[in-house]
Amino acid sequence: MKISVLADNHAGAFTRAEHGLSYLVEHDQRKILLDTGQSSLFAENASVMKINLEDIDTIVLSHGHFDHGDGLDNLEGKKLICHPGCFVQRYRKQDNTYIGLKLSKEELEQRFSLITAEEPYRISEGSWFLGYIPRITDFESQRTTFIFKDGSPDFVDDDSAMALMLDEGLFIVTGCGHAGIVNTIEHALKVTGGNKIAGVMGGFHLKTDDRQTIETIKYLKENRVKYVMPSHCTELPALASFYNEFGIRQVKTGDVFEI
Ligand SMILES: [Fe+2]
Repeated sequence: MKISVLADNHAGAFTRAEHGLSYLVEHDQRKILLDTGQSSLFAENASVMKINLEDIDTIVLSHGHFDHGDGLDNLEGKKLICHPGCFVQRYRKQDNTYIGLKLSKEELEQRFSLITAEEPYRISEGSWFLGYIPRITDFESQRTTFIFKDGSPDFVDDDSAMALMLDEGLFIVTGCGHAGIVNTIEHALKVTGGNKIAGVMGGFHLKTDDRQTIETIKYLKENRVKYVMPSHCTELPALASFYNEFGIRQVKTGDVFEI
């Protein structure tokens, strides 16, 4: 399994960064693009990294936020999998900024073979799109800073992730982790029938060293998760707590992670 970081919040030496996420996941002889960042940057970085995006089999959109899906207008003709709730008009509560997708569902249907799934969707023998992630813990997804057009709270119910079945256990790749990392992992274990978690990588949506961060770290330690790689929307001092517990490294664009 190989993950190439095409877009993320931190820049590598020869690749640029943006607020967004795009990872190329190679597993099971498949090339799956998880998210596309917010611009053409993922494609520009791919070219620096000598990655041919024509070879992608499938695109997975983790959720309908601009920083994960607005790069989609640089691609076409692929299979695109996402939760049906991705296309809604949505805003930041703080200042009413639009944070939904630029392209409408109709425009995406014209460009891609769109598959929407609330249920888990098996991409290959050993890789899953997890569909709707039930919110079961009492420390995740308790608050939201987002609203819909009518002002009602938006808990980003369309937030999903990918699960890869490896010899070492399950490896979870998240976009922004709005559903909560523990909720996501628990759902992935149920969906795949797995019992061991090898790793988790991507946006953890943890901002401070609050209870959610503490409980997430506790869960990952109790389950002896070997690869812990928070990035994108995981901010200081949450990252500092992860560093203290796991000795994590900064995830940067241009990174290639292989196990
Ligand atoms: Fe995000």
